[in-house]
Amino acid sequence: MELDLLGSNVKISDDIKSWEEVNLLYNSALKQIMTKIEILNEEFQAVHRYNPIEHTKARVKVPESIVKKLKRNGYESTIENMVRYVNDIAGVRIICSFTSDIYRIAEMISNQKDIQVLTVKDYIMNPKASGYRSYHMIVALPVYLSDRIVNVKVEIQIRTVAMDFWASLEHKIQYKFEGKAPVHINSELYECAKMVADLDARMLSLNEEIQAISLGK
Ligand code: GTP
Ligand code: MG
Repeated sequence: MELDLLGSNVKISDDIKSWEEVNLLYNSALKQIMTKIEILNEEFQAVHRYNPIEHTKARVKVPESIVKKLKRNGYESTIENMVRYVNDIAGVRIICSFTSDIYRIAEMISNQKDIQVLTVKDYIMNPKASGYRSYHMIVALPVYLSDRIVNVKVEIQIRTVAMDFWASLEHKIQYKFEGKAPVHINSELYECAKMVADLDARMLSLNEEIQAISLGK
C-alpha cells in the first residue's frame, strides 16, 4: 500500500494514529535526506576536490511549535491537520560557502528520482521585506515501512554562511521583541542584509577568479 503524507486526498487519520507514528515517519525522512546530502557532498569532493556544503542541520519540529502554528493559521490541533498544513515538521538546513553552491545543491536534490519537489521559494532572487535571503524547497520522499510506503514532506533551506549568520541574529531579535522590533533595529537589519548580499557576491567573484587562475596552471 502506498500512502501520501502530502495532505490532499487520503484519510490520514485512519492510517496514522499517534504523534509517535508521525514522529517516526518524519525522522525517517530526515535520515534519508541527510544521507542523500552526505553522499552528494562526498561525491562532489571526490570528483571536483571541492566541498559545496559547509555543514547541515536537521530537526523535527517539536509538537508545541506545530500546535502553535496550526492555531496561528486557524486550524484545530489534529494529526491530520499537522500532516496536511504544516510543511516544516521535518526540516533540513544546508549551509554552503557560495551562492552558486546553493543552486548546484538544489539542482542535485531535485534531480533525484525518488524526490518530488512540491514547492520552491527563491528568497535569493526575491528577498523578503525583512532582507531575508535563502533558497527554500518543500520536497516529498518515500519512507519504506514493513507494510507500506509513505510519502513524507521535508522543508529544505539552503543558504550561505553569511546568510545564515544574518538569519540567526534576525530570528533571535524577532523572538526577543515578539516580532515587533523597533523600526531602527529592523532598518539596521535590512542594511546588514544588503551587506551580506554584497559580501556573498564579492566572495563568489573572488573565488571564481582564483579558480580560473588555478585552472590555467
Ligand atoms: P512559516 O514562516 O514557517 O510559517 O512558513 P511560510 O509558509 O511563510 O514559508 P517561508 O518559506 O516564507 O518560511 C519558512 C521558514 O523560513 C521559516 O519558518 C523560517 O525558518 C525561515 N524564514 C522565513 N522568513 C524569514 C525571515 O524573515 N527571517 C528569518 N530569520 N527566517 C525566515
Ligand atoms: Mg518554519
